[in-house]
Amino acid sequence: MRVLGISGSLRRDSHNTRLLRAAGELVQEHGAEFEAFEGLKAIPPYDEDDDVGEGPGAVARLREAIAGADAILFATPEYNSSVPGVLKNAVDWMSRPAGKSPLRNKPVAVVGASTGMFGAVWAQAELRKVLGATGARVADVELAVGHAHEQLEPSGHPSDPAQREALGDAVGVLLGEPQGLRVAA
Ligand SMILES: Cc1cc2nc3c(=O)[nH]c(=O)nc-3n(C[C@H](O)[C@H](O)[C@H](O)COP(=O)(O)O)c2cc1C
Repeated sequence: MRVLGISGSLRRDSHNTRLLRAAGELVQEHGAEFEAFEGLKAIPPYDEDDDVGEGPGAVARLREAIAGADAILFATPEYNSSVPGVLKNAVDWMSRPAGKSPLRNKPVAVVGASTGMFGAVWAQAELRKVLGATGARVADVELAVGHAHEQLEPSGHPSDPAQREALGDAVGVLLGEPQGLRVAA
């Protein structure tokens, strides 16, 4: 079992990338493999004229990483109440060719963190909608870490026990454990 993590933030000290790393630890604790995709910044703006064959190299690498994963965990920030453009752009690339997206039937889950009080809930909702449009199997899990600069530990684990549990649930659903992974508070 192999889980791919994709953070929607390019920022070096991203809260979402830290949250994803914490999720990756949980995945590995349960004997599965975890890989974080590092190439989001290299993906060019979507242009249908460039969308021929395998497409640009960075796009082909993401397609390959998705195809090689059994499940994908996204951690997204919220920019102006929506999904950051770089992440939406990557999903747009992955949505093609229509009907043959590498995301089709792929189990995916979305979590998110923001420094605002609502924890990127709108961005997460939009990302779930967009992923659903590609044919991905979007897990019915939710984790919105608001005030992430205060609510995430340096390790990326939420300090709130209910949120730690929600992260475990998100990971657990992706690993095929419907009850989620219970994480010690
Ligand atoms: C362009 C921009 C727009 C933002 N819009 C929102 C927003 O709509 N809602 C929100 O909660 N936070 C918003 N923020 C604050 C982000 O939540 C905050 O920068 C967060 O740390 C980004 O995630 P990261 O730490 O993973 O990079 C915005 C930040 C930027 C740079």
